[in-house]
Amino acid sequence: MNNNVVSEVVPSAVSCVVLGATGYVGSELLALLHKNTNFTVVKAFSSAEREPVAWRAVAPQLAGNSSLIIEPWHINQLSGINVQAAFLALPHEASALIAPVLLSLGIKVFDLSGAFRFQDADVFANAYGFEHPSPQLLANAQYMLMPWLKNTVEPSVYAIPGCYPTAAILGLKPLVDAGLVVGMPVITAISGVTGAGKGANARTSFCEVSMQAYGVLNHRHQPEISQQLGTEVVFTPVLGPYARGILAVCTVQLNTELLNNRETPNALHELYRHSYAQNELVMVVNQPPAVNHVAHTAFCHVHVAHNEHTAVVTVAIDNLIMGAAGQAMQAANQVFGVDLYAGLK
Ligand SMILES: NC(=O)c1ccc[n+]([C@@H]2O[C@H](COP(=O)([O-])OP(=O)(O)OC[C@H]3O[C@@H](n4cnc5c(N)ncnc54)[C@H](OP(=O)(O)O)[C@@H]3O)[C@@H](O)[C@H]2O)c1
Repeated sequence: MNNNVVSEVVPSAVSCVVLGATGYVGSELLALLHKNTNFTVVKAFSSAEREPVAWRAVAPQLAGNSSLIIEPWHINQLSGINVQAAFLALPHEASALIAPVLLSLGIKVFDLSGAFRFQDADVFANAYGFEHPSPQLLANAQYMLMPWLKNTVEPSVYAIPGCYPTAAILGLKPLVDAGLVVGMPVITAISGVTGAGKGANARTSFCEVSMQAYGVLNHRHQPEISQQLGTEVVFTPVLGPYARGILAVCTVQLNTELLNNRETPNALHELYRHSYAQNELVMVVNQPPAVNHVAHTAFCHVHVAHNEHTAVVTVAIDNLIMGAAGQAMQAANQVFGVDLYAGLK
């Protein structure tokens, strides 16, 4: 790793800032940008409440010997510097307030929170529990689920999908789009504790973490998954006793008539291989994946098994990389027209 890239200004590189750089996702994003010479981080920010802090004090395992200093956020920090892109790894409320200000400065905004993932302001308010302060931006925000991205029209904000939705949608979209699903898919997904962010709370403390479902039938990622798949789903998240990764187990009833029309014995495996043939990060594997197979990587492993009426799709991703920072990196590579996988492999 070239540890000088973050603080050096590479002349042709896209100049960018990272907000939320002291958090789990923001620090991972700094590390990916660090490896991607198409981008130069000109500044990185914590909340306004902190003193300036060295990145290597916050995340030594990612920062190496980088001399980058993370500074307390204030809009005046951007005065007089050229910024083309901003990555927001912030709480939803903070992203919703800060993104419009950055857009007004002509900066492209990649938001990793949930603030811009819904086009409808009422659906947003129901899922997130507060009225969006800039609802006019929602209809024109672009949901950046990279393996399935089609629309390249200039949007307001580039909205990076949630971690659970990334796993669930990558697992189910090939079957749903092929019309093979009957009824509601059932998704049970286990996440490591980094999924909850760095802030201390009793539920995620070392002594309390066990194995527990939460947000049953009302988690905010359920409408996000439904919106993207175009079908209602049953989604149950589970907090698991490990640090990194999501394992999503997706069970569907199959349209047996359509399934029988597919002649090969491995019809669904072939469907998935075909669906992801052009994508270098989604790998269709021959055995159910483990989170350890993808932890700390930008890869997604997908496995599909079926009998005559039921399919079980198992998906493993790293929640902080494929489920957040990695997908943001890929989105920015796409938007700025550089190698789609730069910084990611
Ligand atoms: N964790 C995951 O697996 C994951 C996956 C996908 C998406 N996401 C989303 O990504 C975002 C960041 O998640 P995270 O897990 O990295 O959270 P985190 O570890 O709690 O980090 C939050 C970051 O935001 C900063 N911050 C907090 N309030 C702020 C404000 N009002 N203004 C400016 N900065 C502020 C914090 O700074 P201080 O350190 O100074 O408090 C910190 O740098 C969230 O929206 C989350 O839902 C997370």
